Amino acid sequence: MTEKANEQNATIMLPDGKTIELPVMHGTVGPSAIDVRPLSNHGLFTFDEGFRSTASCASAITYIDGDEGVLLHRGYPIEQLAEKSNFIEVCYLLLHGDLPDKESYDSFEHQIRHHTMVHEQLIQFFNGFPRNAHPMAVMCGVVGALSAFYHDSLDVRNSEDRDIAALRLIAKMPTLAAMCYKYSIGHPFVYPLNRLGYADNFLHMMFSVPCANEEPNPIMARAMDRIFILHADHEQNASTSTVRMAGSSGANPFACIASGIAALWGPAHGGANEAVLKMLMTIGDPRNIDKFIAKAKDKEDPFRLMGFGHRIYKNYDPRAQVMRRTCHEVLKETHHLDDPLFEIAMRLEDIALKDEYFISKKLYPNVDFYSGIILRAIGIPTNMFTVIFALARTVGWIAHWREMISNPQMSISRPRQIYTGETVRDYTPIRKRKEQAK
Ligand code: CMC
Repeated sequence: MTEKANEQNATIMLPDGKTIELPVMHGTVGPSAIDVRPLSNHGLFTFDEGFRSTASCASAITYIDGDEGVLLHRGYPIEQLAEKSNFIEVCYLLLHGDLPDKESYDSFEHQIRHHTMVHEQLIQFFNGFPRNAHPMAVMCGVVGALSAFYHDSLDVRNSEDRDIAALRLIAKMPTLAAMCYKYSIGHPFVYPLNRLGYADNFLHMMFSVPCANEEPNPIMARAMDRIFILHADHEQNASTSTVRMAGSSGANPFACIASGIAALWGPAHGGANEAVLKMLMTIGDPRNIDKFIAKAKDKEDPFRLMGFGHRIYKNYDPRAQVMRRTCHEVLKETHHLDDPLFEIAMRLEDIALKDEYFISKKLYPNVDFYSGIILRAIGIPTNMFTVIFALARTVGWIAHWREMISNPQMSISRPRQIYTGETVRDYTPIRKRKEQAK
């Protein structure tokens, strides 16, 4: 049993009756944590599968209060950033800790703008993938492959090298993401245009073809930029923790980001935006909503309402609120307000927010609930949704990687386990095994 002895320590009684004092760590805001590191000196570990009660690190980048629905990047509320800032400025903020002055912003923006091309040799990697491969599979491969291009020149202990790696990643992700799409539909790759802003350039690479240059619609570009901002970081989620874990061994950062992309792909994490749209299509008609709500509530049925629920938010996800407003703007601009999927989404949200099951379990719409509808209205195909999440989250991943590597106390992440397998036993020759099993 653990009890707080004073402001600084918690006293814990061990199974042998001894008591030990464990320091209590306090952040600038949010719950405190008991520092359990001294336990291993007593031959004991803590057990917390799924990390529900474990802080894996101390970080100054992002703060979430899940009960209040608060998300702050370096102290700034996400609603203000989505409304007043732009993705490049948010990238600077996440990486450097403060909003840039004009000169720093211009220099940072210039560098991102001028690192957008990828090595021509990388095209060969695309040619090795089947055209119908999932773009997340391709993204995972090609981002990992960047480590082959930038390895010998990169010393992770050198802060300048780390900064260059961060810039390269942020700048090249839209190019790679658009290449994944172009490859899947058999179109030639479209080179980035440095005169365009970040979101505009991405839309240009997605939708232009060599014979017709698409000038990006400013409302779509703004919506895209806002989607990037809303996905930029979310503290120690599964993919960020994966990047930190991979990076803790000193691995190449491009390879670490590839590991983050793999973790993001799952439907419980970034893959949910794709799953939401598929779910809305399966529901197909508002008259079927009740049936699907019943399925989501049925313990025997594995079906879950995609885009609902969050490990940390037990209130409305603040990103979903902004996404909802952006969704209205984009659908109005594209004259898609009568999109049946949008109608289903709004009805579903309305019913779920009033339903006792969802209320009691605090299941609110999350960031992915509306993002898919916006992306669809922009013209992005469903299987590219999670790639866009990865593109935007890259800055969060690399900011956490930088923060971790710059910590002089950093050590390799190496969790322990409770072993539940066989205890020691002697090897039996193969001819005797059947006999022994009897
Ligand atoms: N629909 C129906 N029931 C649900 C849902 C849902 N979407 N989410 C959770 N529950 C139920 C779950 O069955 C469980 O019920 P019980 O207590 O009776 O066993 C209870 O709520 C708690 O669920 P949990 O799985 O223990 O919660 P978790 O914190 O492990 O999972 C989650 C969080 C996001 C994985 C989960 O809510 C989920 O699968 N949601 C749908 C997928 C989704 O939208 N994911 C995107 C997350 S936001 C983007 C990101 O940051 O990655």
